[in-house]
Amino acid sequence: MSYETLLVETRGRVGLITLNRPQALNALNSVVMRELDAALKAFDADKAVGAIVITGSEKAFAAGADIKEMQSLDFVGSYLGDFLGGWEHVAGARKPMIAAVSGFALGGGCELAMMCDFIIASETAKFGQPEITLAVIPGMGGSQRLTRAVGKAKAMDLILTGRMMDAAEAERSGLVARVVAPEKLLDEALGAAEKIASFSLPAVMMAKEAVNRSLEVTLAEGLRFERRLFQSLFATADQKEGMAAFVEKRKADFKHR
Ligand code: CAA
Repeated sequence: MSYETLLVETRGRVGLITLNRPQALNALNSVVMRELDAALKAFDADKAVGAIVITGSEKAFAAGADIKEMQSLDFVGSYLGDFLGGWEHVAGARKPMIAAVSGFALGGGCELAMMCDFIIASETAKFGQPEITLAVIPGMGGSQRLTRAVGKAKAMDLILTGRMMDAAEAERSGLVARVVAPEKLLDEALGAAEKIASFSLPAVMMAKEAVNRSLEVTLAEGLRFERRLFQSLFATADQKEGMAAFVEKRKADFKHR
């Protein structure tokens, strides 16, 4: 399948999606949303893919939702068409997703990065939710995911002032998992994704589910959910293989990868 706004390829067991609207700093319009959803669904269904990396260009991961597309929207059209609602499908991908962020990750760009399971940033990355400067607010999860990631104080600071934060501040705040030199960004993200993709896929997917559940339920419920998933993994051949390989001091050969 070919895409108008994305470059999509596989590298080893990693599905790589590169946002490709350079003329608009990868602004996220409805075509990008539809194509990302389709590309992620295809990777989710592809047995040869164990993890996904989403990246942009050196200058911009994505500079936000497409302001030119949004400019003339009215409330009824936006409400009836559930404008931006489709991004929930993008966020719902079941395989692990890493955002490799260089340059601007603003508004919807920051929100897309936060839909991924973790963010690896280049030293040049700049994160922000500047919607307030356009007289709107974040609409793809920024007020919710940023607050969970960095806490109320910094989320309020960024969302109310519209300022950008650099990669070092983003890492200090817990938004970003790793910061690397710009020329190492893609290799670092692909390396992390390849590592994840080498493990047993049911275990990887359940680990993702368990961590995400922690953001939605009480501690008691979350602990029960985690324990049930943990117990269920003992029904997999890969658990037997993983533990046998450890005991026999050899490399595990997982069946479900
Ligand atoms: N939507 C549409 N087009 C955009 C865009 C966006 N979010 N961001 C950049 N572009 C376009 C510019 O209009 C420009 O196109 P033209 O050459 O045709 O005019 C091109 O990309 C290059 O941009 P600049 O000339 O502005 O580049 P710069 O280096 O001078 O500035 C920038 C870079 C600071 C990121 C600046 O482009 C900018 O402020 N962009 C908008 C950021 C923003 O407000 N994002 C939030 C959008 S709202 C949102 O995302 C809502 C939500 O929560 C879902």
